[in-house]
Amino acid sequence: MDLKEKVEDIKQELEKFQVSSKDELEQFRIKFLGSKNVIKGLYAELKTVPNELKKDFGQLINGVKVAAENKYNSLKGGESGEKKSALGEDFDFSRPAKKVAVGSRHPLAIVRGEIIDIFKRIGFTVSEGPEIEDDWHNFSALNFPPEHPARDMQDTFFITKEDDENKEKEMALRTHTSSVQVRVMENSTPPIRTISPGRVYRNEAISARAHCFFHQVEGLYIDKDVSFADLKQTLLYFAQEMFGKETEIRLRPSYFPFTEPSAEVDVSCSICGGKGCNVCKYTGFLEILGCGMVDPNVLEAAGIDSKVYSGFAFGMGVERIAQLKYRVNDLRLYSENDIRFLNQFKGAK
Ligand code: DAH
Repeated sequence: MDLKEKVEDIKQELEKFQVSSKDELEQFRIKFLGSKNVIKGLYAELKTVPNELKKDFGQLINGVKVAAENKYNSLKGGESGEKKSALGEDFDFSRPAKKVAVGSRHPLAIVRGEIIDIFKRIGFTVSEGPEIEDDWHNFSALNFPPEHPARDMQDTFFITKEDDENKEKEMALRTHTSSVQVRVMENSTPPIRTISPGRVYRNEAISARAHCFFHQVEGLYIDKDVSFADLKQTLLYFAQEMFGKETEIRLRPSYFPFTEPSAEVDVSCSICGGKGCNVCKYTGFLEILGCGMVDPNVLEAAGIDSKVYSGFAFGMGVERIAQLKYRVNDLRLYSENDIRFLNQFKGAK
């Protein structure tokens, strides 16, 4: 029998080989794949083949070897052993499942969602505006006169943008979400109750306490006869929903060009309950937002009659609220995407 016939024989034997038990499967393995398998014998005989035919024979034998491996794997039930095996053994349902890696929501997304929920419950809508903003919406309409030193309060990233007529236009990355209140007022008529969450940018050196971008939620309420008392009550409601029913708020007079009067709002420290600790620097209070009655100039700039309508506005930092909620003391952690940090918020609501 020449080598070609021998290869054919083994091939046929391989194809016909029936397996109906584990023992027979083992016999198959020993015969075709074991350390002294029949295919090895074929390779040994290659020596006797004339050189010019070696390549063809080699390929023929390789084909048998691959066929033997494939048949063995499929008889065994597939390489991974997860398919129902040809031996009739059922898949092992008690086998522990492979873990599916579940992601977690970003702490800022969690807090942003919570702020939105709280205000939605008292009738506020959600509005958004562009991050690349013009001078009018970020400054002028908000009562920042040109060259007014108040513009220095917020270190702005300026950029130039080509308009449709290829003219260069000076734009800014918005420094606060107050720009959105102007857009909302321009495009709707009171009563207005809206909050505007979004990212803002400032030209600051990045450190644990400052970042070149962060997130704010702006609030705006415009109607007839809106008073400072409405503002206080709205903010108290927010603080108690966010930090707990026993939370108190404190308003300190402040200055913003777009509100008059203006205030900064502190909440009683949820860590020490107002007694004083190192987080609140022994004051019992933590600053969380700025607010005030919308300046009549701002109403007029956005086309709202300030003799008929009044309103309040407020703006808060999402990172600040998240910091108080989760005790994150380094702002950089929010944008570093360190999985060890993010995984800590698994399951957080
Ligand atoms: N825009 C202010 C800031 O970024 C925050 C702010 C203060 C918003 C008072 C307001 C407000 O609407 O009334 O610091």
